[in-house]
Formats: sequence, structure tokens, C-alpha cells
Amino acid sequence: MPHPEHLLLRSLARQPVERTPLWLMRQAGRYLPEYRALRGSFSQLTEFFRSPQAACEAAMQPLARYPLDAAIVFSDILTIPDAMGLGLKFLSGEGPRFEHPLRTARQIRALAPPDPEQELGYVLEAVRMTRQALAERVPLIGFTGSPWTLAAYMVEGRGGNNFPHARALLREQPQAAEQLLDTLATAVALLLGAQAQAGAQVLQIFDSWGGLLSDEEYRRWSLEYLHRTIAALPTTCGGKPPPLIVFVRDGGRSLTQLAASGCAAVGVDEQLSHWPPELDIVVQGNLDPALLSTDPKQLDIAVDTVLKRFANAPGHIFNLGHGVPPPTDPALVEVLVDSVRQRSQRPSAH
Ligand code: CP3
Repeated sequence: MPHPEHLLLRSLARQPVERTPLWLMRQAGRYLPEYRALRGSFSQLTEFFRSPQAACEAAMQPLARYPLDAAIVFSDILTIPDAMGLGLKFLSGEGPRFEHPLRTARQIRALAPPDPEQELGYVLEAVRMTRQALAERVPLIGFTGSPWTLAAYMVEGRGGNNFPHARALLREQPQAAEQLLDTLATAVALLLGAQAQAGAQVLQIFDSWGGLLSDEEYRRWSLEYLHRTIAALPTTCGGKPPPLIVFVRDGGRSLTQLAASGCAAVGVDEQLSHWPPELDIVVQGNLDPALLSTDPKQLDIAVDTVLKRFANAPGHIFNLGHGVPPPTDPALVEVLVDSVRQRSQRPSAH
């Protein structure tokens, strides 16, 4: 049976929509009791990610509760460095750690981009299973980290600080940094392309640590390699790439440049309080995740503010400025979803 093109895909294509599409970064996760139950059957988080069946179930959980407009593959941005041999571990309460962080030019020279089918087959299997489980209900988003964000974790060996080693590498060993970022641009393009070929209908790149860099550094160390990644997508996707969303956590500083990068949409964090009218790009965002610990009334008002903020953009996809915080009450997520659906109705558009 033919079905109308999904809302999210129409927004990304700048077509009219009858209401604003909505999904939430980290919509599968610890705030859901059913997620915690599933997580409990694995001692290591990495084992959970490596089980396509469990990953498919986790990706479907939020959709069983809420009428969201997209599913996102249940995986992690750090699967690429793990497949490159850095040894990923998640320590409870402390976040990710690499057993073998990159500290020397020699280590960097020895790296090669992983072959997705050979080394990240579990991610692609999760994509295939989730796409099938969705049965065309909503589109599936595949994702990776940006080259810079992955490099930052790989050099530092951990998150949670200001990445002093990673920033020192840029200053002190720029050639090694270039080589690392170039390898990662290839790795990211390969994994995004493989996810598209396995069934992902939208792609998102998380540049979670773009905000650590100054404007000039951002151009040199992040944007440049995003460009290389985007340029490689027609090849790695084996044809026209799916629409790409680039999410950057930096208060919107680099939006003009990103808008010209060939992505379909930019994802912005909650620091962006005003949409520059000259920006001609679809926007995704940006409710402050902290609002999910307030009350229904405040949440509803904040939703209205976000919808109005982006009313003049060429398209808007409702999302948070960052992921759903783990202590969130699932009932408030329902309030949020209802509020976005009701307040963004545009009965005249077809
Ligand atoms: O619904 C979804 O969005 C699930 C898929 C998903 C995960 N990680 C699963 C996950 C996505 C899109 C990510 C992206 C990711 N991972 C980013 C980019 C977005 C961002 O948050 O800036 C980053 C930087 C990572 C690296 C990472 N993974 C960290 C820093 C942590 C620990 C801190 C945290 O947020 O929990 C993880 C673990 C992780 N990845 C969890 C999940 C559901 C927590 C799992 C658990 O403890 O049960």
C-alpha cells in the first residue's frame, strides 16, 4: 500500500508538513524502566551494543510508548574507535574509557578505517533488524560521531573533561592530527554509507565536542573533515545519500559554514535562543533538556517558545538541545510529545 512520505523526510526536503516532526536524542535509554530491565541482562554496555536483537528492542522501546516521528539505531559513536583497536570500556557512573588512547604519531600512522561489514557488522545488523521491525511506521536514523569528536575521545581516552591531550595534539603535532582526522573522515563516511545501504533513511553526525574549538580551529579541525566525509557519501552510500543532519554543540557559532556543507539540516543545542533569519537551512532542536525535570505547564510553555523560535526557518524538526537526561520521568516525555504535536498543527498544509 502506498503511504505518504514520512513527516521527517518531508521536513528535511523542505516540503510542507501538517505538524512539526519530533524525535529525541537518546530517546532509548535509562529514563525508561524497560530499557533498564534490558540493560540488566548484559554486564557490559558494549555487549548490549553488540547484540542486534537487544539493540533493535531498545530502539523500538520509546516508539511503543510515544508517537515519535523517527527511530534512531541503538548503538554508540565510539564503536568506530573500538573497531580500530582502542579497547572501549564503559565504567559505571564514569562514562567511556579507552584502554589504548592515542598519544603518539606512530600509533596514529598504524590506524586504518574499519571495514563496516567485517568489523562493525553488528551495527549493520541492528540497522537491518530495526528497519524491519519498524515496518515503515517512521524512518530510521543511522549515525556516527564527527571525525573531530571521535578524535577527541581517542586521544584523550575518556570524556568528561576539556580534552587537554586532544587539544595539545592539534597544537603540538598538527601533522599527526591531520592524519588521524583524515583516517576518521574515511571511517565515518564508510560507516554512514554502510548504514544507509543496510536501510537507514536519514543520517546524523554528532559533533558533540565542536564547541571546544575556537572559530578558526573549528574550521581547520572539524569542518574541513566534515566536508571530506560529506563529499565521500555518494561513493560509500552507492548512490544518492540519504538526508544528513549535523548536530553541533556550540551555541550556533558555526551554523553559517555548516549550512553550506551539503547537509540537509543542522542540529543545534539549547544555547541558541535566536534563529538568524539569513540562515537558509532546516534546523533540528533545541528544547533545554533541563525542562524535562520541571512540570507540565513550564514544559508546554517552553515547547511553544522553541516552535516560535524556528517558525521562519525553511524547516524545523523538534528535538532537545542534547540527549534525554537519565533521571527524566517518562510521563513528562509524554507531556512533551503531546505538546509538540498539538501546538505545531498546521491544518492548512497537505
Ligand atoms: O536513543 C539513542 O539516541 C540511542 C543511541 C545513542 C547512544 N549514544 C547510546 C548510549 C546515541 C545516538 C549515542 C551518541 C553518543 N555517544 C554521543 C553523541 C551525543 C552526545 O551525547 O553528545 C556521545 C558523545 C557518546 C559517547 C557516550 N556513550 C558517552 C559519553 C556515554 C556515557 C554517558 C552517557 O550519556 O550515558 C555513552 C553511553 C551510552 N550510549 C548510553 C546509551 C543509551 C548509556 C547506556 C547506559 O549506561 O545504560
